[in-house]
Amino acid sequence: MPLEVIVLAAGQGKRMRSDLPKVLHSIGGRPLLAHVLDAARALEPAKTLVVHGHGAEKVRTAFAQAPVEWVLQAEQLGTGHAVQQAMKHARGDGSVLILYGDVPLVRPASLKRLIEAAENGLAVMTTEVEDPKGYGRVVRAANGNVERIVEEKDATDDERAIREINAGFMALSGKRLQGWLGKIGNRNAQKEYYLTDLVALAAKEGVRVAGVKVDDGLEVAGVNSKVDLAVLERAFQRAEAKRLMHEGVSLADPARIDVRGTLECGRDVAIDVNCVFEGRVRLGDGVRIGPNCVVRNVTLGAGTEVLPFSHLEDSEVGARCRLGPYARLRPGSTLAEEVHIGNFVEVKASRLAAQSKVNHLSYVGDSEIGARVNVGAGTITCNYDGVSKNRTVIEDDCFIGSDTTLVAPVRIARGSYIGAGSTITKDTPAGQLTLARGRQVSIPGWKPPKKKEKG
Ligand code: UD1
Ligand code: CA
Repeated sequence: MPLEVIVLAAGQGKRMRSDLPKVLHSIGGRPLLAHVLDAARALEPAKTLVVHGHGAEKVRTAFAQAPVEWVLQAEQLGTGHAVQQAMKHARGDGSVLILYGDVPLVRPASLKRLIEAAENGLAVMTTEVEDPKGYGRVVRAANGNVERIVEEKDATDDERAIREINAGFMALSGKRLQGWLGKIGNRNAQKEYYLTDLVALAAKEGVRVAGVKVDDGLEVAGVNSKVDLAVLERAFQRAEAKRLMHEGVSLADPARIDVRGTLECGRDVAIDVNCVFEGRVRLGDGVRIGPNCVVRNVTLGAGTEVLPFSHLEDSEVGARCRLGPYARLRPGSTLAEEVHIGNFVEVKASRLAAQSKVNHLSYVGDSEIGARVNVGAGTITCNYDGVSKNRTVIEDDCFIGSDTTLVAPVRIARGSYIGAGSTITKDTPAGQLTLARGRQVSIPGWKPPKKKEKG
């Protein structure tokens, strides 16, 4: 039977107290809705319909590439009303799976179980929790079948004591769904059309309602507040840390790593505490990352070591490099093998060939640096003349003395030596020592000024 997925994402999320639509808040660096759509995609549905409304424009823009059909629910009159809007655009000839955009950590395997359980009726996903506050409670009949779901605000004290809650996921045939949707009213505490009323309608018609329980409450936990968001973020990160360790990565402390994107690691990678990985990061075999590093969209070659407090962004680093402590790679930096970038060195939009070293307090921007170049402490490439950016080229085997300023555009030819403290404004000849600084003078017979006697 063909499968259609409906994702409800129209709500504002009042309890988030934010201008951002709820489903755009992130877990692991990606919007809640992205997690839900991932789970949906794994089921290979014929169609995925996303009901959106609050912040519609923002939501659509954030998911411009997603292979989904957008359904507008201009007024948010409840989850039942939302599904009604979606069904106007559904084929309705197979089974339908309803997901909530604010329940992000569900696993496709659990959804498959739910769809299977709906074979001859209706299936809802549930779980037992310590504190059911805020969720719809699952009321079961004596024979164990689910009889109805009651929202917290409509529940009696006895019903509120029930600890089995509705996750919000539902599977059933499209035909039945169409029929029941027309019968949902809004006579309840919130004056909303509750999707959950479907359960009582089904039970009344003698259709079996299966409650599919999952053990891991986090899989079905919804985000309604910033507190929920933080709890799920930690859960997500714990799972991510576990996954990495199972793949052989050594984490100094699995509670102190944050992966906001995809982190791929080779063998024998070691990561110290408080590191943040964002976007797409690839670490080659034997890479070691020191404490307190931020690494975003970066590839590090095998055996490269990153020392503490380094910040690396949109760059490619070869094998056996040494970066930091306090190194900064800005976008467009490409380092070949065995390059050293030391403390308080900033590299931007530059290439450094093998075995070159910039070890202390330097700025290298818009530059092309050859192999085996040594850039002395405090060297600055003056790449900006106030209007445009210009390139600095340093060919192989050059030695740049400390505190040199290289005023771009400028080319330092192969094997050049630049004396410390030089300001280089013209290209240098290969293999020569170039000095561009005031000559040192000493004044014979000079006497230090005398301090005036006081009084
Ligand atoms: C809902 C369930 C509750 C369940 C809980 C699980 C109902 C009536 N209640 O409650 O049983 O335990 O989820 O997390 O379904 N939405 C729309 N349009 C609307 C209203 C909501 O698209 O008109 C979307 C929201 O954006 C959200 C989802 O539906 O993604 C759930 O809505 P929410 O208001 O958060 O429902 P809960 O009160 O959490
Ligand atoms: Ca919710």
